[in-house]
Amino acid sequence: MSRTLLVTGAAGFIGANFCHYWAARHPGDRLVAYDLLTYAGNAASLKALLDRGQLTLLRADIGDAEAFGRAMADHDVHWVVNFAAESHVDRSIRDPGAFVRTNVLGTHVLLDVVRGLWGASPGAERRFHHVSTDEVYGTLGPDDPPFSESTAYAPNSPYAASKAAADHLVRAYGRTYGVPFTLSNCSNNYGPYQFPEKLIPLCIVNILSGRPLPVYGDGRQVRDWLHVTDHCRAIEAILTRATTGTSYNVGGGAELRNLEVIEALCRRIDAAFLTTPSLGERFPSAPAARGEVSASLIEFVRDRPGHDRRYAVDGRLLERDLGVTADYTFERGLAQTVQWYLDNEPWWRAVMDGSYQDWIERQYGTTAP
Ligand code: NAD
Ligand code: DAU
Repeated sequence: MSRTLLVTGAAGFIGANFCHYWAARHPGDRLVAYDLLTYAGNAASLKALLDRGQLTLLRADIGDAEAFGRAMADHDVHWVVNFAAESHVDRSIRDPGAFVRTNVLGTHVLLDVVRGLWGASPGAERRFHHVSTDEVYGTLGPDDPPFSESTAYAPNSPYAASKAAADHLVRAYGRTYGVPFTLSNCSNNYGPYQFPEKLIPLCIVNILSGRPLPVYGDGRQVRDWLHVTDHCRAIEAILTRATTGTSYNVGGGAELRNLEVIEALCRRIDAAFLTTPSLGERFPSAPAARGEVSASLIEFVRDRPGHDRRYAVDGRLLERDLGVTADYTFERGLAQTVQWYLDNEPWWRAVMDGSYQDWIERQYGTTAP
């Protein structure tokens, strides 16, 4: 059966990867991208799908009930996949209000419109899938077991709190009004099309530009790295096979300290310059262009306020119920990601925002190592 998926936040990092993934695997389905195109949204990430007529792009706000209701009715949507959000923790420290508006109030608007359209008996073919984060669970000590679906919510940043509030609304609309939802809480994604404010793409473009690699605090914070394609595969399994009303955690099985991630990136890029000498001409400011190591750019800076020490995800429920585990090792995923940024310089040059870089510099500054 052919379906229509409305994908909010489709021009962002994970949303764009999801649209490419879905179009390749389900060519008979229709994709409607619903995105406000904020600083983080980039229509260029969807260009191939737009050019091939595989996707319709609507520029609109998830907080605009009329626009969302019209999009739902015009396209007779079966499944809504909600990626749209303000997603960067550092920005939530600067401007928490934007996170409450989009992540909490925006999600509420989506739920209310869906409830009105689908009613209490939406039928088996309707689904609202909400994409959330492991950050809702707060932080772990070094020996704590990973977050499971029954771990209590304890968000620490305004971003995490806004995502937690949205998750609660999704569950409540399911229980109270019968909105047919599924929910996923995943760990740190990486891969193509990620905006260069998040750790991995930021470090790649900074190495290539010869700029410092800012390590917050001591760099020993741990994240569980999930390649975005593995995340898309997990969402596909949940959408197509999970029971309505269930939540799944999605992890990458790759717990690493931030400093380990940065050092692995440095080594990867140094090796690429050795095997491809033309990179030295394309990126003359990179240390490797002068035969120096990229790690010379590492700088320890002031820590992020409220910085969570460790995230780790227990993905056993997803594996047991739906047979999904991560395919990518971190090494393979990182190599693929570095290559993508080397091959797509025009994409990342176009999305860089100088004013935000200035704010980050003022916020964190540089500390002695
Ligand atoms: P992103 O910041 O790259 O993209 C967000 C997208 O949402 C952008 O295209 C933006 O234009 C759009 N958007 C923002 N406000 C909007 C609004 N009011 N109306 C319509 N569109 C709007 O984010 P991402 O990294 O792709 O994350 C996608 C989702 O996954 C988010 O909900 C995020 O909380 C969640 N998540 C992300 C990660 C990660 O590591 N990136 C991990 C766990 C969960
Ligand atoms: O865990 C899932 C979350 O992962 C998602 O919900 C968020 O949307 C996503 O942004 C990400 O949050 P993090 O805060 O973990 O990601 P970020 O890339 O900002 O930072 C990763 C780690 O690296 C974190 O411990 C902070 C640190 N860091 C980050 C930046 C940008 C640095 O040390 N230096 C940096 O310059």
